[in-house]
Amino acid sequence: MTHFTGNLSELAQRYRIDETIAEGGMGRVYSAEVRESGARVAIKLLHPKICNDAAFVEAFLQTAEKMAAVDHANLVRIVDYGRTEKGAVYIVTELLEGVDLGTLLARDYTLDYREVVDIGVAVCRALSALHRKGIQHLDIKPSNIFVMQRKGATKQPAQVKLIDFGVGRLPEAPGAPSLNGQMWLGVPEYWSPELATGRPTDARSDVYALGIVLYESLCGHTPFRSHSYSDLIAMHVRSDPKPLPQPPNRLSIPDPLKGVVMHCLKKNPRERFQSAARLADMLARSLAPRRAVNNPLARRPAAVALIGASLLSVTIAGIALSRQIPREPPKTPAAAIAQVAIDISSEPTGALVVDTADGSSYGTTPVRMELPRADKRIGLLLQFSGGESVRTDVVPNRSTRIHIQAPSLANGVAEKME
Ligand SMILES: Nc1ncnc2c1ncn2[C@@H]1O[C@H](COP(=O)(O)OP(=O)(O)O)[C@@H](O)[C@H]1O
Ligand SMILES: [Mg+2]
Repeated sequence: MTHFTGNLSELAQRYRIDETIAEGGMGRVYSAEVRESGARVAIKLLHPKICNDAAFVEAFLQTAEKMAAVDHANLVRIVDYGRTEKGAVYIVTELLEGVDLGTLLARDYTLDYREVVDIGVAVCRALSALHRKGIQHLDIKPSNIFVMQRKGATKQPAQVKLIDFGVGRLPEAPGAPSLNGQMWLGVPEYWSPELATGRPTDARSDVYALGIVLYESLCGHTPFRSHSYSDLIAMHVRSDPKPLPQPPNRLSIPDPLKGVVMHCLKKNPRERFQSAARLADMLARSLAPRRAVNNPLARRPAAVALIGASLLSVTIAGIALSRQIPREPPKTPAAAIAQVAIDISSEPTGALVVDTADGSSYGTTPVRMELPRADKRIGLLLQFSGGESVRTDVVPNRSTRIHIQAPSLANGVAEKME
């Protein structure tokens, strides 16, 4: 604690510092109380060596200012930030009760896929709010996703809040590549290819990083693993991630959900979901009830099925994740006439159906596209998990079924049926 004491004393006028709750590459996080109001807060104090990096500090404080202006239920509330007279850089946020996803996963734990979808949708909502204001998070990883504990026995669902942020570059720490034996910012397991290679990033970099988090939360490990920075960066840029494996003794992950996760991990940002909002939509749809009819793999298993009850109670005791999956409203007859259903199946199943106009995705086969009746042709690209793809198009002027085989099976001929 020695190196922080001087700086902390400057904050002690306003805050009653409680205890250290985390120590990471950037500095130390304390729980504290605002003397004036009694409000419980978390104070992050950047490490003195980082505080000397003027450009990094400026970027950090600018991002803090922008983030503090965004008020969203899935984003931690920033209550204060700045630089003390002696140059200590700090940020103060509301104190959250619960556990971060990194800690959850570190307990040798993979989550029930429905909980992962809930967490993913919540993070997407927070990201959407940021992206709408032109802010990228740039540090999406499990330890920055906080799963809050449910208070008492209320029916109130637990909330998920995004915390922390990145500024798009590492602090320069001359002569000090490590802090307490740890690398400054951990390993770049969650960096998009463009972030890892110093190219311009945008909202789709956050989509990629969230894809890695979803992958890890579902199967227990990230798609790319190495102790070497340069290996990891090379893998993000060049290696195809292995299809999401099914962890043993866990609920069977539905294929559409696997497809959605893999689609986040495309090397080229144009091939990923183009927005966090679209990803939220596709995550929710990957479990939507009507899919259960089309795809037996997507059928929701019984709540406790394969997960050991004791494991669940130890790891997420008190945490009840809300079901945030929007249900489709019942259709009126008029609405039904104005809509057409295009059922797309394929061999093999699990091909991602992408709209060629904007790169957005309708999900993985078998999938039903419900569209307003129109005469406008829609270009589609089916991407099979083995890397093959087939182009086709549909005119949504009547309900249709389309079956497509992978090129290696049948020249990729699209077969349309009434
Ligand atoms: N507001 C908060 N409430 C409760 N715990 C927090 C809060 N902010 C951070 N933490 C805990 O501290 C850890 C590190 O905080 P974070 O802001 O992510 O700093 P860094 O990653 O730079 O070390 C988080 O992963 C989380 O476990
Ligand atoms: Mg963090």
